[in-house]
Amino acid sequence: MELENKRESKVISKNIDVFYGDKQALFGIDLEIYKNEVTALIGPSGCGKSTFLRCINRMNDVIDICKITGEIEIDNFNIYKPDVDVVRLREKVGMVFQKPNPFPKSIYDNIAYGPSIHGIAKDKNEMDHIVETSLQKAALWNEVKDRLHEPGTGLSGGQQQRLCIARAISINPEIILMDEPCSALDPIATAKIEELIDSLKRSFTIVIVTHSMSQAARVSQRTGFFHLGKLIEMGETEKIFKNPNNTMTQDYITGRFG
Ligand SMILES: Nc1ncnc2c1ncn2[C@@H]1O[C@H](COP(=O)(O)OP(=O)(O)OP(=O)(O)O)[C@@H](O)[C@H]1O
Ligand SMILES: [Mg+2]
Repeated sequence: MELENKRESKVISKNIDVFYGDKQALFGIDLEIYKNEVTALIGPSGCGKSTFLRCINRMNDVIDICKITGEIEIDNFNIYKPDVDVVRLREKVGMVFQKPNPFPKSIYDNIAYGPSIHGIAKDKNEMDHIVETSLQKAALWNEVKDRLHEPGTGLSGGQQQRLCIARAISINPEIILMDEPCSALDPIATAKIEELIDSLKRSFTIVIVTHSMSQAARVSQRTGFFHLGKLIEMGETEKIFKNPNNTMTQDYITGRFG
């Protein structure tokens, strides 16, 4: 309890409902995500994890039939207020997807693209610096520093995913959303990304969707379990995995369904 009090809240979801047309995908989601922590979202396929993740940077706005009610506060500000600048919001809340999706450009340009459209770098020197530090933070610099002008798509899957993380970092977001970022990767590349996620939490707040219980247990401080569009239980990762309050959570984490 005392530990909880010291934590700083970054994202608060208040009674979020999401509909795709007539079909309701999320039901009254209330939850809190803490700053500089990794929060894992788990649950069976179709339970609404990706839908919830996309609520945090309003990526659901681009889906015509999707309707959202409720509030999401980031730093105590409701991002669903009508006058919110979603471009600015998505600068603050970056995203990394399941399948690495580098642009068909050089490694350098993959990183430089965001800072250049957002006018973050003053000149070439500053851009070089952003590219280098982003790649360093993504634990990729040493592997690519001699081939910055080769295509990003020529990297291995795990390297491509770290490139996508570097790209997300390059515009200096506060929150990084990751939707199953390792599901296309082998165990070694996965271990590297997990290590990276752990180091990134010093600078960012991270929310990760994963199907891997062991990954959630390894990388996150808190875990939320979703089932059929509802948040069944959320708490300290250790508690969720060792001694959950809800039998459905217990059944899921022990592999009895899902
Ligand atoms: N673009 C969409 N249009 C219509 N329905 C959608 C759309 N995206 C998701 N849904 C529906 O919303 C529900 C939640 O889907 P969501 O993708 O959020 O689940 P998930 O937990 O991420 O699943 P998975 O683990 O398979 O990725 C599902 O019933 C899904 O079919
Ligand atoms: Mg999903």
